Amino acid sequence: MKLKNKTIIVTGSGRGIGRYIAKRLGNEGANVVVTARTEKEIQDVSGEISDAGGSAVFVRGDVRIEEDVKNVIEITLEKFGKIDVLVNNAGVGLRKYLWETQIREFEEVMDVNLKGTFLFMKHIIPEMEKKGGLIINISSGAGKAGIPTLSAYCASKFGVIGLTEAASAEASEKIRIVALCPGSVNAGMFKRLFPGEEADLEPEEVAEKIARICIHPERYRRGASIELY
Ligand SMILES: NC(=O)c1ccc[n+]([C@@H]2O[C@H](COP(=O)([O-])OP(=O)(O)OC[C@H]3O[C@@H](n4cnc5c(N)ncnc54)[C@H](OP(=O)(O)O)[C@@H]3O)[C@@H](O)[C@H]2O)c1
Repeated sequence: MKLKNKTIIVTGSGRGIGRYIAKRLGNEGANVVVTARTEKEIQDVSGEISDAGGSAVFVRGDVRIEEDVKNVIEITLEKFGKIDVLVNNAGVGLRKYLWETQIREFEEVMDVNLKGTFLFMKHIIPEMEKKGGLIINISSGAGKAGIPTLSAYCASKFGVIGLTEAASAEASEKIRIVALCPGSVNAGMFKRLFPGEEADLEPEEVAEKIARICIHPERYRRGASIELY
């Protein structure tokens, strides 16, 4: 129970990798705030954590909408009084050549993956300046190298690394902000976008890495991009 009394928000935790992250952190004793748009999924994940003896609440929210982001933060503070860790995990994938990508598709990827990460950091950093905190932004291997058919996705995930480095340089030393860049994961969007292909990682491995960063944040340089393959 190495995260007992730590309050951790995990965005996009109704399914896919986020669900594994939320449950792993719940097993370690954290108060987990499970958030995404699909109420049934976040309710189920929150229930699974509670049934296993952990502490969790679910709050519906769309990371693209500033009022929703503020609401998730407010409810977390009302319920637990502080926020120790934010895991910016919510994301969408798109597998298309750049010249086939519609403007609305490009904007959707940017809005969820980049603007959502920006909005949560914008509203949580001032709160974390009071007591300190840790932010883990989920980028990707596709945030380190351009991959054919993933132009919009790569642009958003390169952007997440830029946001991480700049926000880290702006924040005080009480706040540690890092990006995690996993290779392909046998879950969620990879399974949907690359059916039948072998992934680099299992979702449990990503959840384990997140748990280790939460338990020993001092081992990771502020602003670092942590690669995981
Ligand atoms: N799978 C991989 O191979 C892989 C590799 C490296 C990095 N990643 C990154 O890991 C993260 C999770 O990926 P995944 O494969 O687990 O995806 P996933 O199964 O599609 O799950 C995405 C989660 O994000 C939520 N979400 C999507 N749009 C949202 C919005 N506008 N507001 C709030 N929540 C939203 C979804 O819930 P709702 O739709 O209900 O809102 C869902 O819970 C993403 O950031 C992804 O880019 C994935």
